[in-house]
Amino acid sequence: MNDPVPVNDSTLARAAAVIREGGLVGFPTETVYGLGANAMDATAVAGIFAVKQRPRFDPIIVHLADVSQLEQLVTGVPELARDLVDHFWPGPLTLVLPRNGNVPDIVTAGLPSVAIRLPGHPVAQRLITEAGCPIAAPSANRFGSLSPTTAGHVSEQLGDGVDMILDAGPCRVGVESTVVDLAGATPRLLRPGGLSREDLEAVVGPIEQHVAQPADDTAPKSPGLLSRHYAPRTPLSIAENLESLPAGRLGLLTLQAPANPDPFDVVETLSESGDTIEAATGFFAALHRLDSAGLERIIALPFPEAGLGLALNDRLRRAASAV
Ligand code: TXA
Ligand code: MG
Repeated sequence: MNDPVPVNDSTLARAAAVIREGGLVGFPTETVYGLGANAMDATAVAGIFAVKQRPRFDPIIVHLADVSQLEQLVTGVPELARDLVDHFWPGPLTLVLPRNGNVPDIVTAGLPSVAIRLPGHPVAQRLITEAGCPIAAPSANRFGSLSPTTAGHVSEQLGDGVDMILDAGPCRVGVESTVVDLAGATPRLLRPGGLSREDLEAVVGPIEQHVAQPADDTAPKSPGLLSRHYAPRTPLSIAENLESLPAGRLGLLTLQAPANPDPFDVVETLSESGDTIEAATGFFAALHRLDSAGLERIIALPFPEAGLGLALNDRLRRAASAV
């Protein structure tokens, strides 16, 4: 077991050296914890795929500490990308842009585009700055499993596979970044996430959302759209209401407390005031707890389709879909 270390000047310097030397570091971002490697080092990035047991067709997001690093990686920055960068970076927004030849093929799974974001977390920014290179990082979980929002989640899932895990407490946003594809003629929402669709559309106007088809699963445009992803080991069902529940030990994941909690052995309430931002912060941690509670089934009530509710419903649908 690889114990997370608290962040200070000396552990940060050590983590930056690990990245420079081709190793892997678990580190906090404002969305979820990432599993980082030097993005310009194909061998280091191959280590990410191995540790996560992630298929090579699933491309990885490159993290920057400064917008000026963008020019190193892309063929050009469209005006719309500039607007989005100005409004939302640093923050939970990933932009997919046409890439140049500096980016190793393994990072983009051979796609002609690269996904990039500038995380809004001081530890992530310092790590990238001190490492002196962009950092390629997926969420620091095993492929298809629940995302990590604490350093403990990282060590439980990836443990010895990682050279070092930096612990800066729980993530503020709690759900992965919103992914927007700007490599085509019109912008497309590839993954709803920590930046709400409403905030995004205030800048880009109405945006088309890519809808995953089951047939997509062999060669997905954005593999985060694979139908089963973000899944607990315990079977999870989405219920429109709490009538006619199955028998057995049940857990409930809900925005607000149910009128009758009696049928449930464990109830996880995410925001008594019904706030989807607050709910996102605790979402994955609540799912991790439910998954460790020895339940036969997790029942989840859907979130309102507004604010971060879109991202949470998206993750619930993927957690629930049949294998
Ligand atoms: O908040 C986040 O985005 C976190 C933190 C660590 O930054 N990272 C994260 O990475 O969620 P990951 O690997 O779990 O999800 C990255 C998503 C996947 O759905 C991947 O398919 C998509 O971004 N993606 C990466 N590069 C892409 C590209 N060139 N074109 C389309 N989608 C891409
Ligand atoms: Mg992930």
